[in-house]
Amino acid sequence: METRRAFSRTTIAAAAGTALSASRVWGANDRIRMGLIGSGGRGREDWGNFLKQPEVEPVAVCDVYDAHREQGIALTEGRARPFQDFRRLLEEKDIDAVIVAAPDHWHALMTVAACDAGKDVYCEKPLSLMVQEGRKMVDAAHRNRRVVQAGSQQRSGAHYIQAVELIRNGRIGEVHRIEAGMQRNVFPGLKPTALAGGLTAALDWNMWLGPAKEVPFDPFRCIYNFRWFWDYSGGQMTNWGAHHLDIARWIVNEAAPSTVSGAGDRFALTDGGETPDIQQVTYRFNKTVVTWTTSEIGEGDPLTLNIYGTKGMMTLLRSGFKIKPETMAKPGGKERLPLMDAMEVKGADLNVPHVRNFLDCVKSRQKPNADVEEGHRTAVMCHLGNISTRLGRTLAWDAAQERIPGDAEANHWLMKPYRAPWKLG
Ligand SMILES: NC(=O)c1ccc[n+]([C@@H]2O[C@H](COP(=O)([O-])OP(=O)(O)OC[C@H]3O[C@@H](n4cnc5c(N)ncnc54)[C@H](O)[C@@H]3O)[C@@H](O)[C@H]2O)c1
Repeated sequence: METRRAFSRTTIAAAAGTALSASRVWGANDRIRMGLIGSGGRGREDWGNFLKQPEVEPVAVCDVYDAHREQGIALTEGRARPFQDFRRLLEEKDIDAVIVAAPDHWHALMTVAACDAGKDVYCEKPLSLMVQEGRKMVDAAHRNRRVVQAGSQQRSGAHYIQAVELIRNGRIGEVHRIEAGMQRNVFPGLKPTALAGGLTAALDWNMWLGPAKEVPFDPFRCIYNFRWFWDYSGGQMTNWGAHHLDIARWIVNEAAPSTVSGAGDRFALTDGGETPDIQQVTYRFNKTVVTWTTSEIGEGDPLTLNIYGTKGMMTLLRSGFKIKPETMAKPGGKERLPLMDAMEVKGADLNVPHVRNFLDCVKSRQKPNADVEEGHRTAVMCHLGNISTRLGRTLAWDAAQERIPGDAEANHWLMKPYRAPWKLG
């Protein structure tokens, strides 16, 4: 395995590899040689789904935590080579595509470097940590003619595709309100999920932090729970919100809201996390209002995605969708008549179809279901919700310029500096 040397180079530009692979014509039976970067909970889930596909040949697994790297290698029955520095992995010429499943603060750096090294990328959601990172990811994908799929697997679920098509065809009438949320009770807080014994040689903390500011090792910040710290993620807004708001935006069929208004904070949880335990955000689209709710201190239906139409209301979840008709009073009588037929469709697996869609697009060079630009737009929606919540004021959004008009302070939040020596693209 390559050693823990400090590398002075912070961006990778394997230009020769890029030109060659962009012009490659893929045959239906060609093998796709893959690497995994970030072999944690989700990375290994993704890896398992990719490894089930007949054309996938595992080449490399990279993680800064020994135990996770070894588990990722074990899934390949020892066929993949181990790496601790993703820059070394990206230099390997026998890798066509990579999965990026490190924490969110790494997504942009790794995706841009992978595109510049001529690899296609399956990057976990949320696409980015900050708005301006996402635009650079889109640019890197386009500049290198790469297929980049966000890990928003709901976009490939047959029942999600069917539901969006039904709504677009007017089945539930005109849609002017969508309600999305995630509710559970984790009071008084979450626990460290690994490495509670402290930092050991088993984890390279400096390389885990990467572009984030230097802080002493903290087992709670690290595996899984990075989600609750602003330097690495955006809380439930970018965890579950990234999934449900992605579908809401798909239904609305607009790139971005025009205004965003959020409220919330970490009011009650006492675990040291930073992101809100209660949060409510309202998005104004042209003729639709979309709301997001996080509740970590009160039980409720665990997940919500309700789409209110003038003829019916659809509840759309991973388990399936149900449409409940609206009713209208019969003229001159008390009886209320349904405006449409009720409907219920069961959900099926989302993950394998999303992985399949990525592999098919690697070969066809078509845009994948959750193309990088769509992933970016949905991540922007999440980030604006968080910025508005943290600043405590409503924000307007100029989607063409990707700026918050007339609000210098808020624009400052669209990107924050990386810790040296890390630079994006
Ligand atoms: N699509 C989904 O349904 C879904 C579900 C869960 C998580 N996710 C996403 O997957 C990502 C990972 O989440 P997780 O729950 O697996 O977290 P995790 O903490 O279990 O895994 C992250 C892994 O990345 C490793 N890592 C950190 N820095 C690295 C670096 N510089 N190089 C290589 N590896 C590095 C960590 O050591 C860890 O093993 C997040 O962005 C999350 O939002 C998506």
